[in-house]
Amino acid sequence: MLTTINSKADYFIQLEDAYNAHNYHPLPVVIEKGEGVMVWDTDGKSYFDCLSAYSAVNQGHCHPRLVKALTDQAQKLTLTSRAFHNNLLGEYAEYICQYFGYDRVLPMNTGVEGGETAIKLCRKWGYEVKGIEKDKAKIIFVEHNFWGRTLAAVSTSSDEGSYNNFGPFTPGFEIIPYNDLQALELALLDKNVAGFMLEPIQGEAGVVVPDEGYLKAAYDLCKKNNVLFIADEVQTGIGRTGRLLACDYESVKPDILILGKALGGGILPVSAVLSSNEVMLTIKPGQHGSTFGGNPLACAVAMEALKIIKDEKLSENAFEMGTIFRSRLSAIESPLIETVRGKGLLNAAVIKPYGNGKTAYNICLALLNNGLLAKQTHDHIIRFAPPLVINEAQVHQCCDIIETTILKEGE
Ligand SMILES: Cc1ncc(COP(=O)(O)O)c(C=O)c1O
Repeated sequence: MLTTINSKADYFIQLEDAYNAHNYHPLPVVIEKGEGVMVWDTDGKSYFDCLSAYSAVNQGHCHPRLVKALTDQAQKLTLTSRAFHNNLLGEYAEYICQYFGYDRVLPMNTGVEGGETAIKLCRKWGYEVKGIEKDKAKIIFVEHNFWGRTLAAVSTSSDEGSYNNFGPFTPGFEIIPYNDLQALELALLDKNVAGFMLEPIQGEAGVVVPDEGYLKAAYDLCKKNNVLFIADEVQTGIGRTGRLLACDYESVKPDILILGKALGGGILPVSAVLSSNEVMLTIKPGQHGSTFGGNPLACAVAMEALKIIKDEKLSENAFEMGTIFRSRLSAIESPLIETVRGKGLLNAAVIKPYGNGKTAYNICLALLNNGLLAKQTHDHIIRFAPPLVINEAQVHQCCDIIETTILKEGE
């Protein structure tokens, strides 16, 4: 039952609340249009989008080239399933493999399916190439990881909200502290370890950047122990952190690379797992798949999404704009801000817990009122991740709003 309706937005919010599962707690804004860095609500008010749908909209909202790729292909062919070949999958596979320097790709849809696929590949490789005894394979994860909501994903989670009352859990996973090489070294003593999976910067944990050198040293430890290094670049990849991949900062080439989010340009769910022949060819016909994975519509959109990143130099732009963004945020003198961190355009401000009673959520509400969308992660961190097409003037406009809001909220 809807109660008294006070505005258009109120109606949509009440409707969602009445019929939708309560598995999210969105900010009270109803968006109906997007273009580039901007979105508009149902009353026509504009906002800077500093979330980019959790880094899925790197190319900006409704990029004309993506809309064209989508609509052109949608009028020709959208889905065949993998029961037959389609005329775009081969072209896409070649394109993405050469783009990231891998032998093969396994196309899926969502990010979490990419993670599941990577784990299955890693286990298969563990049994059939490394020679691990049947059903003994182990994969190492790190604390505060986030790679989605499936049972395997929550089985690796250290966040109670993610796993509580969803058990029993998938076995074969071990969780060690992030950014701790000694813990990794110790975990790798077990000969049944097949893989080590991590985000090069932890997104949902609050943009947690590991120490410089951690990724390279972790990769080297994996190599020494014949263990696959699996990078979940679903959020950090495709230009977000100021490099094509966050692993590029340490010249690490993951054995298995997981991509999603911006691969579909914020238009379609498209994910991909990339690896070598040695790993990828352990999976034979009928052993893994998805009805929609590799569909021609997704192939057309993903190729265009990747081309835009190169053509518009969005990784480079993310690096430059991110540097300005962090220096502006770091210069805000407010008791509310504990620290500012991030790389490229994946940034966060840590709000001093309990400062004047204001939580990150309160500040996000104030930002919303002032025309900027950002979302808290946990109750004391605000992530700022605008589309990578943002220009310098827009970065300053965003920072002006953030500065004014934080100074006011800190009073
Ligand atoms: C690092 C990382 N991996 C995987 C996922 C899951 O992606 P999806 O929601 O598309 O399944 C996310 C989602 O936020 C993520 O941040």
